[in-house]
Amino acid sequence: MGKVKTRHVCNACGAESPQWFGRCPGCGAWGSLIEEVVPTAIEAGPGRAGAATSRSRSSGPSAPARALAAQPLAAVTLRSRSRLPSGFGELDRVLGGGLVPGSLVLVGGDPGIGKSTLLLQTARSLAARSRVLYVCAEESAQQVKLRAMRLGSPAPQIPELDSDPELELDQDPEPEPEPDGELRSVNATPNAAPQDLYLLAETNLDLILAELESLRPPVAVIDSIQAIYLPAMASAPGSVAQVRECTAALMRVAKRSETTLLIVGHVTKEGAIAGPKVLEHLVDTVLYFEGDRFASFRLLRSVKNRFGATHELGVFEMADVGLREVRNPSALFLGGRDGAVSGTAAIVACEGTRPIVAEIQALVSPTSYSSPRRTATGIGHNRLLQILAVLEKRVGVPLSRLDAYVSTSGGLTVEEPAADLGVAVALVASFRDRLVDPHLVSIGEVGLGGQIRPVSQLEVRLKEAAKLGFTRALVPKGQPLRIRGMELIPVTRLVDAIATALAGAAIAEPPPDRDRPPV
Ligand code: TYD
Ligand code: MG
Repeated sequence: MGKVKTRHVCNACGAESPQWFGRCPGCGAWGSLIEEVVPTAIEAGPGRAGAATSRSRSSGPSAPARALAAQPLAAVTLRSRSRLPSGFGELDRVLGGGLVPGSLVLVGGDPGIGKSTLLLQTARSLAARSRVLYVCAEESAQQVKLRAMRLGSPAPQIPELDSDPELELDQDPEPEPEPDGELRSVNATPNAAPQDLYLLAETNLDLILAELESLRPPVAVIDSIQAIYLPAMASAPGSVAQVRECTAALMRVAKRSETTLLIVGHVTKEGAIAGPKVLEHLVDTVLYFEGDRFASFRLLRSVKNRFGATHELGVFEMADVGLREVRNPSALFLGGRDGAVSGTAAIVACEGTRPIVAEIQALVSPTSYSSPRRTATGIGHNRLLQILAVLEKRVGVPLSRLDAYVSTSGGLTVEEPAADLGVAVALVASFRDRLVDPHLVSIGEVGLGGQIRPVSQLEVRLKEAAKLGFTRALVPKGQPLRIRGMELIPVTRLVDAIATALAGAAIAEPPPDRDRPPV
C-alpha cells in the first residue's frame, strides 16, 4: 500500500499547501491550517461519478465530450421563470426580489443565530406553493417538527399558511427515525400546502442526492453543509474538502433538475470545520445572517448575488414564535430616543438601497491612562481616530487628552463615511455637554482637511429622515435638493457644520451628584 498523502488546508479561505504554516499564506489567518488526507477517492466519488454517468449517457463512456459550438448572445433563448416569493418580504428584498429558480443560495452565520429558524419558516411558506425538501442533518425530524409547530407563519399574506400550524402539522404521520440512516420522509402526502414540506434527517450525501433525484422538489434546504459528508471521501465531515465536494455534487444535481438550493453554512472561528467562505465562489448568492445573539434582532445581508444588488439588508426580530420581519428598521434603531442626553446625533446610513436612520452616541471624558482610550462600537475604529484628529486640528477641539467612546444605537454597524458628520457632532456635543436638536439629522463625509464631502443617495436618506419626523438636515453643499417638510442646511466645512448643529443647543443638565459645572 502506498504512503498516505496529506496536505494542509486553511479553514478560513480554503488555501492548500503541502507544508504546515502557523499563519495561512492565503488569507493571513492564524492557526487555521488543518492537515488532511489528500482525497484520492474524489475521482471515483459519487458526485463526480454522477456527473460522469450523466455525460456518458449522451456521449458514451470513452467518447470525447461533444464539441459545443459557441452561440451569439442574441441567439441564447431565455426561459422566463418568475422568482419564488419566500414568504418573508425582507428575505425577498435581500435576494433581489425572491428566489431565482435553480439558484444556489448560501446562508452563513454564527451557530445559534437563527439560520435554521429562518429557513424552516421559509420552507413552510414555500411549501404552500410547491414541494420542498428540508434536509435536517443536525437535528432529528422530531426536533424539526417540534420547532415547526412553535413557529408562526412568516407570511400572513399567504392564505394557505394562515391557519393554525399546530393543527396542520399534527395530522402528519411521522415515521420513527431509523438508526441505520435509511431515508425518512415525513409529511408523506404531497397535496395540501403543509404536507408538501418533506423532512429528511440524513447526513450521507449519497442518500440525500438519491432523495433529491426521486422527489424532484423545486426547492431544497440543506441544514447544514458542514454536517453532511460524501462517504467516498476520507476526510471528516466539515473539512474543506468535504464541504467543497458536497456543495459541488449538490450543485450538479440542482442545476440538472432546476432545484433551488438553500444551503446553511456555520461561520466558525476555530476548530477543524470549514467556514462558508470556502464556498462563496461556488454559489450564486451568499447571505449572512448576523446580529447580537443576546439582542432580539437579526440582520440579513447579501454579500454576493448573481441576481440582484449586494449589500441589501433585511431586518428580523427573533420572537418566541420564530423570526418576525421588521418593516421599519429606523424605528427600531432610533428606539429609546426620548430622554435628552448630551453627545448624541442622528444620522442616515444606507444599507444597499435602504436608508436607516440611527443614532450616534459619543462620550468624551478625561483619561486616567497614559494614552487615552478610543472605543468605537458599530463604526470603524480608524474612522473614529481620523475624525478625532480632524476635530483637534481643523476645528480646534482639544480631544487628545480625553477618552472617547462612540457607539451606534441598536447595535447597527455603519461602515460608510456618510456617518462621519454625525460622529463629529456627537463628539463635540459630548465635549461641550450640549443637547443637539432632536429634529436635526447630520449627513456628510468628513475629509482630512476638515471639509464636508458629498455622499451617495442623499435624497433617499433625507426622505427617510423626513418620514420619521426630522425637520432639519445638515447636508454637504452642492447637492441641490428639495425635501418637503425638511429645512436643508448646506455646509462645506466641519467647523461651520458643528457651529450650526450646536448653535442654540441647550446645555445638558448636570446629574445631581456632579460638582463641576458644564464646560
Ligand atoms: P437556530 O435557528 O437553531 O440557529 P442556527 O440554525 O443558526 O444555529 O436558532 C436558535 C436560536 O434561536 C436559539 O438560541 C433559540 C432562538 N429561538 C427563539 O428565540 N425563538 C424561536 O421561536 C426559535 C425557533 C428559536
Ligand atoms: Mg441550525
